[in-house]
Amino acid sequence: MRIGIPRETRDGETRVAATPETVKKYVAAGHQVLVEREAGLAAHFSDAAYEQAGAQLTDAAQALSAALLLKVRAPDATELGKIQAGTAVVGMLDPFDEAGLDAMAQAGITGFALEAAPRTTRAQSLDVLSSQANLAGYKAVLLGAHYYGRMFPMMMTAAGTIKAARVVILGTGVAGLQAIATAKRLGAVVEASDVRPAAKEQVESLGAKFIDVPFETDEEREIAQGVGGYARPMPASWMTRQAALVSERCKQADIVISTALIPGRPAPTLISAETVRAMKPGSVIVDLAVERGGNCPLSQKGKVVQENGVTLVGLTNLPGMVATDASALYSRNILDFLKLIIDKEGNLAIARDDDIVQACLVCEAGKNLRKK
Ligand code: NAI
Repeated sequence: MRIGIPRETRDGETRVAATPETVKKYVAAGHQVLVEREAGLAAHFSDAAYEQAGAQLTDAAQALSAALLLKVRAPDATELGKIQAGTAVVGMLDPFDEAGLDAMAQAGITGFALEAAPRTTRAQSLDVLSSQANLAGYKAVLLGAHYYGRMFPMMMTAAGTIKAARVVILGTGVAGLQAIATAKRLGAVVEASDVRPAAKEQVESLGAKFIDVPFETDEEREIAQGVGGYARPMPASWMTRQAALVSERCKQADIVISTALIPGRPAPTLISAETVRAMKPGSVIVDLAVERGGNCPLSQKGKVVQENGVTLVGLTNLPGMVATDASALYSRNILDFLKLIIDKEGNLAIARDDDIVQACLVCEAGKNLRKK
């Protein structure tokens, strides 16, 4: 089969959906791989490396003419105009972007959105949310350290003692847990909050303190269990108590990393404007949820802003800031997913009875399959 790797067109997207390592495997399996020139350049994979792996270097139109396209982001309008109906596209196609899925459906694309894969053991090796969020959590701490005017570890020097930084992590899914581990490694004192009761043990096993917001009703306890491993919006009563506690912890904090998300919904507000204004000058908030509206109403998407001496980091696509590793992990996720939609002869053969395939297939034959 002809597999196309177009260069990503979205502003600031540095990742690529296949590295020379995975291209070599596709070629060994008998596929013809068409890589658009400079597709891997921003992730430091040269055209020469792709050629050496057995790829054919092409222009955008040729890469987009392949039967199967591997993408990081969903194709934009220009790309859609060049993709033939019936083409299969695998990528982070944003399963909650209804208009985007409609556009792909209209173009006749068979689209697989890997973010929609279930969070099961079998799906772990193709779990793009995990592979990318892990890197985002790491990078968020480094960004926090970069914008913080002081040190992370406690240091006793001849010129006096430096106190350890206090870091608060809000939301302890994949990104939050990696943020805890990274901040601990840098020597910070870390505490963290999450709505899911299972998070407490994970937070404590990383050596951080859990900010406990006790449940007061059966309803709160039941909703906090989430669904499919994901959080659900909590009742207002719990959110109010959490806000009070978080506000108190943020006032003591030097760095706050917020990662709280609820799939398909705007991110919950966890750090109010009043809390920001009460925080110490020089402290930093890194809002990883900013693309979904943010955990803090003052953070701005794509920007680093100051409010009353507090730096709010709203930069997006943190995995793209470590594009080489992000691309390597993402490409291996795709390699694994393709085993579910390509048969032994190397032809497209969608395993429709497979729960992972069913979850990821978002559009086909002109239909947006996510539309109820
Ligand atoms: P996510 O990115 O959807 O959300 C981040 C975190 O925000 C979650 O931990 C969520 O509980 C938390 N959150 C939501 N509302 C909050 C609030 N009001 N206050 C505080 N925290 C709040 O989560 P992610 O990283 O995608 O992980 C989702 C789940 O999937 C987790 O339970 C994780 O353990 C599980 N998982 C399972 C895997 C597997 O078994 N294969 C692989 C990866 C993740």
